[in-house]
Amino acid sequence: MADIGVIGLSTMGGNLALNIERNKFKVAVYNRTYSRTENFMKQNGDKNIVSSEKLEGFVNLLSKPRKIIIMVVAGKPVDSVIEQLLNYLEKGDLIMDCGNSFFEDTERRAIMLEEKGIKFMGVGVSGGEEGALNGPSIMPGGSPEAWNDVKHILELISAKADDGRPCVDYIGPRGAGHYVKSVHNAIEYADMQLIAEAYDILRKVLKLQPQKIAQIFEDWNKGELDSYLIEITSKIFKKIDDKTQKPLVDIVLDKAAQKGTGKWTSQNALNLGAPIPAINSAVVERVISSMKEKRVIASKKLFSGVDEEKAKYSGSPEELIESVRKALYASKINAYAQGMELLLIASEEYKYNLNLGSIASLWRSGCIIRAKFLNLITQAYEEDPKLTNLLLYPYFTNKLKDNLADWRKVIQIAVGLGIPVPAFSSSLAYYDSYRSEFLPANLIQAQRDFFGAHTFKRLDADLNENFHAHWEDK
Ligand code: 6PG
Repeated sequence: MADIGVIGLSTMGGNLALNIERNKFKVAVYNRTYSRTENFMKQNGDKNIVSSEKLEGFVNLLSKPRKIIIMVVAGKPVDSVIEQLLNYLEKGDLIMDCGNSFFEDTERRAIMLEEKGIKFMGVGVSGGEEGALNGPSIMPGGSPEAWNDVKHILELISAKADDGRPCVDYIGPRGAGHYVKSVHNAIEYADMQLIAEAYDILRKVLKLQPQKIAQIFEDWNKGELDSYLIEITSKIFKKIDDKTQKPLVDIVLDKAAQKGTGKWTSQNALNLGAPIPAINSAVVERVISSMKEKRVIASKKLFSGVDEEKAKYSGSPEELIESVRKALYASKINAYAQGMELLLIASEEYKYNLNLGSIASLWRSGCIIRAKFLNLITQAYEEDPKLTNLLLYPYFTNKLKDNLADWRKVIQIAVGLGIPVPAFSSSLAYYDSYRSEFLPANLIQAQRDFFGAHTFKRLDADLNENFHAHWEDK
């Protein structure tokens, strides 16, 4: 009998099945379209993998209590697979949804399946196809009993950090795993947008060619920015298009797609009252990028107001490159600080009891946002598990202090030249707002009280008291 089953043999599901098999488990596989199963079996005929054309046959291949991974497109397909599986499963069996499901769907499914005696886990899996095959970062949410059933398998198939720790840990109940995966992806969006802005400045201010930018990113990857996304970015800049013999990046259409996780995180953060402007601006910028046709028209009609001669950067290119690096790192610290603070707020709201140190630790390897920098974040929460915001961790406080002048300079140069840097600048605005004892919200409160008698509190009175003023002498 097979130890575990995988439903959905797209690249991610197939690779996950191969990873599990490589770790000495017998795997059963099933795919709705049977020809895909046949292809998969043809390619992997020498492995300890069995398959069935029918779902019932697949379920019967599994040892009891059954453990089944679903790796299909998020949304309705997940509900449909669960509904069909329910015809054949028995109490005590476990379903793990390893796709990028919306956490509220996972909460709903968890309640529905628990009522039927079926265990359910919403499992975030990050690392793309290569990670799924060789070791992803895994974020499992569900009941602790379900976690105990599969802990040994997930620990074996997961990536390992430099210190040998597996990049998987129990995240929390119900939708906690998918919630955390969604925030992971949202941080991924911010990280990618920040990198794109850094590239845009190097390209538009210094007029650097992709080959040169590749070298810069390669150098950056040797220092504190060391990360998977910086590494692949330098490789992207090196790629020459076979057809045109030009850098391929210059030929890629500038319309960014998205599948939803970043948007869900922004929507949820607004619901929870959590400020994550770097993530929000990354989501919004993908949306604006997708309006290519409108942008093309507007580019011919709207003015920049830039006096090219006056705004032209005349300093040393090397200095600006270093300033961009520092600005990128400072923005990145702020983006992660926002994502982690969102997790803290959500943990309280949804009673997830999240361990931020453990989450940072399992993001250190295997996942898309893996970075040397996550060692520092792990350390920050290990030293102070009650840390309210990463900006207050002394290492980051001081790092930001060192990088601030360059960060402001880079944004000024970009704004002066009309180059959009929404994630760089919203990160800086977040930083400046967060460190402000006084914000102009006094005026907003006064306006609210003026037009709607919404009341306000006074700096010199008990904060439980509400005041209303007659702002206008009639
Ligand atoms: C990962 C990735 C993965 C997927 C993204 C892409 O962690 O392995 O995040 O889940 O590639 O969801 O998301 P978009 O299509 O929204 O950019």
